[in-house]
Amino acid sequence: MEHLKTQGIALPRLGLGTFRMQGDACRAAVESALGLGYRHIDTAEMYGNEEAIGAAIAASRVPRGDLHVTTKVWHENLAPDAIRRAFDASLKKLRLDHVDLYLVHWPSRSMKLPAVFETLMRLKEEGRTRAIGVANFTTALLKTVVEEIKAPIACNQVEYHVMLHQTRVADYLAARSIPLVAYCPLAQGRAASDETLAAIGRKHNASAAQVALKWLLDQDGVAAIPKASRAESQQANLDALKVTLDDADRKAIATLPKNKRCVNPGFAPALD
Ligand SMILES: NC(=O)c1ccc[n+]([C@@H]2O[C@H](COP(=O)([O-])OP(=O)(O)OC[C@H]3O[C@@H](n4cnc5c(N)ncnc54)[C@H](OP(=O)(O)O)[C@@H]3O)[C@@H](O)[C@H]2O)c1
Repeated sequence: MEHLKTQGIALPRLGLGTFRMQGDACRAAVESALGLGYRHIDTAEMYGNEEAIGAAIAASRVPRGDLHVTTKVWHENLAPDAIRRAFDASLKKLRLDHVDLYLVHWPSRSMKLPAVFETLMRLKEEGRTRAIGVANFTTALLKTVVEEIKAPIACNQVEYHVMLHQTRVADYLAARSIPLVAYCPLAQGRAASDETLAAIGRKHNASAAQVALKWLLDQDGVAAIPKASRAESQQANLDALKVTLDDADRKAIATLPKNKRCVNPGFAPALD
């Protein structure tokens, strides 16, 4: 598996998303993914599944050093003491002594960014997270974090897929060699039934979902975290790395609508 080197960590370019996976089903899905070779698991305190993921990791024989675990602090917990409490709870549920990446899950209108990053930096200095980062940060917020606060963020995790452009944020990140981690990389499954992608897939003996993933992973500095509960889909998503797309395919993908955002909650500053 290829990695993206960023702020002292090596982020596997394909990870397993786990939003809306819960309990025993989540544990089984993560155990399956680890068995198939996934080494990057994406979770968050808000997903309510860190205990199940902790159990799956504990049951696996994957050495800790080979595994990348990302978790996130929810937007309601961005006061320094609340971050600490949320972080401690996440680590305990995950049964880990450190995570690899700790992200601000969503910006909030009331957050105090310098205090947020001072707290995250302390967690990093204490060795409890190997790196820190953000999710759903606009270009304006990234400028504050990167250029004013100068926080060493290892990624911005944002919605990005064949039906949603992210030109501004992607250009900003690429210019600073900060990885973009694409969430909803399958447009929450919609990509799997898209006829344009299916036609491209037929040329290459691949599925529409695999075409959508490979389009992302062909881009420098981009990682993707598709959620898949079934082992067949997990394996298919790993196999997407072997698909070769050509210029005609990329041209056809460029004709898809690019404004199909799946996630945009009202509590956060507008994303664009
Ligand atoms: N930072 C944030 O604010 C944020 C927001 C949203 C999501 N995320 C992260 O990103 C992850 C991915 O996003 P998402 O779960 O919303 O959507 P997604 O990964 O785009 O799509 C997931 C859907 O695609 C299906 N699927 C997966 N592989 C497939 C394949 N090979 N063929 C056909 N269908 C396939 C899944 O089915 P089954 O599960 O039934 O197999 C599921 O219904 C989340 O799980 C979460 O970890 C982060």
